[in-house]
Amino acid sequence: MFSPVIVALDFSSSSEAMELSDKLGPACSSYKVGLQLLTEAGPAVVRELVERGKSVFLDLKLHEIPISVAGAVRAAGKLGVGMVTVHASGGSAVMRAATAAAAEYPNLKVLALTVITSLTDSELPEIGLAPSVRLQVERLAQLAADCGCHGVVASAHEASYLKTLLPPGMLIITPGIQLEGARSNDQERVATPEFACQAGATHVVIGRSITQASNPQAAFVSAMAGMAGPVGSSGTSDPLR
Ligand code: C5P
Repeated sequence: MFSPVIVALDFSSSSEAMELSDKLGPACSSYKVGLQLLTEAGPAVVRELVERGKSVFLDLKLHEIPISVAGAVRAAGKLGVGMVTVHASGGSAVMRAATAAAAEYPNLKVLALTVITSLTDSELPEIGLAPSVRLQVERLAQLAADCGCHGVVASAHEASYLKTLLPPGMLIITPGIQLEGARSNDQERVATPEFACQAGATHVVIGRSITQASNPQAAFVSAMAGMAGPVGSSGTSDPLR
């Protein structure tokens, strides 16, 4: 069972990841393992988190032929992770292969990646994609839903319209989050947990705002509070900074 805040363990070693998990303690139940940590530390780091009782989002960003994607999803299921990602742009056969493989693992959810958050409208034509990020996201998210994916990964800006487009119950996992007061990093447009929650995100993925904070535990608690409900109805705060 994932908590609304999933902490991204973007580290270069298992020991750094476990040190952070120790700091956050039992309050933090959900972690994302991405390509860096997986490549550096191997599947053992995932097993260790699972053994500690943590829910693991394995961000494999699969974009392969269907049989290979199915094999990787099965391998993720065997590791005991609860979420795995596949690129929706791989097409319906790929997503259907992923969801069929995940069906063997009742707790495993397949999340579809639509358009990576670093791409902008002006960059889409050069890779042959249509006219705007929004149209491309809507098209792929709808396809992901039709193929049985359990959720999508989308920025807070996309969450608001995906919430109305997608069937109820589909997860919307939102990265690109920065906490109020956290130092600015390389993200161009970021949202707070409050804004993401209000926009329709069911979960947020937060890395550096928590892992690099002077007090990671306090940062985690503040993120969880942000996901607990919308900010005051006055709408005076500016969630996009
Ligand atoms: O920026 P932060 O350290 O919070 O990133 C945590 C994770 O969110 C990263 O592992 C990355 O995969 C994802 N991310 C993203 N789009 C962004 C920023 C981060 O997908 N704009």
